[in-house]
Amino acid sequence: MKPLKVGIAGLGTVGVGVVRLLAAQKALIAARAGRPVMVTAVSARDRVRDRGVQLDRLTWHEDAVTLAQDPDVDVVVELIGGAEGKAKAVAEAAIAAGKNFVTANKALLAVHGAALAKAAEANNVTIAYEAAVAGGIPVIKALREGLAANQVSRVAGILNGTCNYILTVMREEGRDFSDVLEDAQRLGYAEADPSFDVDGVDAAHKLAILAGLAFGARIPFERLHVEGIRRISAIDIAFAQELGYRIKLLGIAERTGAGVSLRVHPAMVPEQKPIATVDGVFNAVLLEGDFSGPVFLRGRGAGEGPTASAVVADLIDLARNIRVPVWGMEESALEEAPIVPMSDLGGAYFLRLSVVDQPGVLADVTAILRDHGISLESMLQHGRAPGEAVPIVLVTHETREAAVNAALADIAKLPAVLEPPALIRIEPQ
Ligand SMILES: NC(=O)c1ccc[n+]([C@@H]2O[C@H](COP(=O)([O-])OP(=O)(O)OC[C@H]3O[C@@H](n4cnc5c(N)ncnc54)[C@H](OP(=O)(O)O)[C@@H]3O)[C@@H](O)[C@H]2O)c1
Repeated sequence: MKPLKVGIAGLGTVGVGVVRLLAAQKALIAARAGRPVMVTAVSARDRVRDRGVQLDRLTWHEDAVTLAQDPDVDVVVELIGGAEGKAKAVAEAAIAAGKNFVTANKALLAVHGAALAKAAEANNVTIAYEAAVAGGIPVIKALREGLAANQVSRVAGILNGTCNYILTVMREEGRDFSDVLEDAQRLGYAEADPSFDVDGVDAAHKLAILAGLAFGARIPFERLHVEGIRRISAIDIAFAQELGYRIKLLGIAERTGAGVSLRVHPAMVPEQKPIATVDGVFNAVLLEGDFSGPVFLRGRGAGEGPTASAVVADLIDLARNIRVPVWGMEESALEEAPIVPMSDLGGAYFLRLSVVDQPGVLADVTAILRDHGISLESMLQHGRAPGEAVPIVLVTHETREAAVNAALADIAKLPAVLEPPALIRIEPQ
């Protein structure tokens, strides 16, 4: 049987992982794919570096775009990264050359996914991207194929292992964000420039992809609401525990009659819910289909092995000529769904104020909440320190985000309120 010839652009953590996996599981993969899957060509920036894998019998391309055009390559695997630049050029070159394209690049797909899908259809090829979301968890296949008969109303997940690791250690050890981040960088769980992870951008890229698939919609990435975890403090985590919650960075996409809401932000989740128990570098995704009911997936969201596992699963499908439309349906069938603004969303809120402990402060705060139609479920204040700063925690009943924002703006103006109030949304899951 004719082998499937694979060209790999990018030989970092994932690229080397794919080379290793294809060698280690050669016979199994050939059996599953119905024919051998072999790497014929590779490209990276540094030709001389020892990457710990055998590359000497493969064609080396100085330019990854020429790899995409190599007649000895059937499928192009892009493992360079980034929404623009070389990765995008490789995608466009592969599609133009009539080759199926496999990638782990969430940034590229979140930003250019619809345009690339259109180009792929025009050239009768497909784009496979299991590794782009939640690494080793087969969530793309679950959503695009397993749940293909459902209207999916909601996708919620822990989509960034670095943030989940940091929040887990903050809780377990009672430490502050910056301190734990430094440790995570030393251990290799966080990049030297951690902003993509800790500011929520990486999770937002993955959420945009999941939402596009779940709702059959073109998702304008710039319309996502994105907050990271830098402002989460050890004290919020301690209060969350006292109230029976865990703080997680969640990506949530929901479809309602009004349109689609798309948001990434820290959230308090009841501690007994499955997603609250997903700790450390693990990822999890909860999918709600109308006929299937809830489906919960958890696993390793990154790392050489899990990510290579997802890339090679795509190669096995392509070797068998299994091709699914990029977004689960023709690009022209995708909807332009209205995006629901955050101010229109509702829910319960955790609010933390730092106030001077003096008579009348609480009465002023509760009067403002009442004036905005917000009622309280509970309130926490520990100890008393007359004349000094104390934290006060308020948990609201279900209310509109616009009302909470307006109330917090008024509360922040009270002379006894010392810092901008902290707000964390409570997600029932
Ligand atoms: N790491 C993970 O756990 C993980 C998980 C899921 C998805 N992903 C995604 O997988 C992709 C790759 O990630 P990674 O962690 O493997 O990255 P990485 O370790 O930084 O590797 C990137 C590779 O791309 C090569 N490269 C950079 N610019 C290039 C250019 N202009 N032309 C050709 N090659 C170029 C680099 O070459 P040199 O080696 O010569 O510098 C390197 O081999 C990214 O899209 C990432 O988001 C990664």
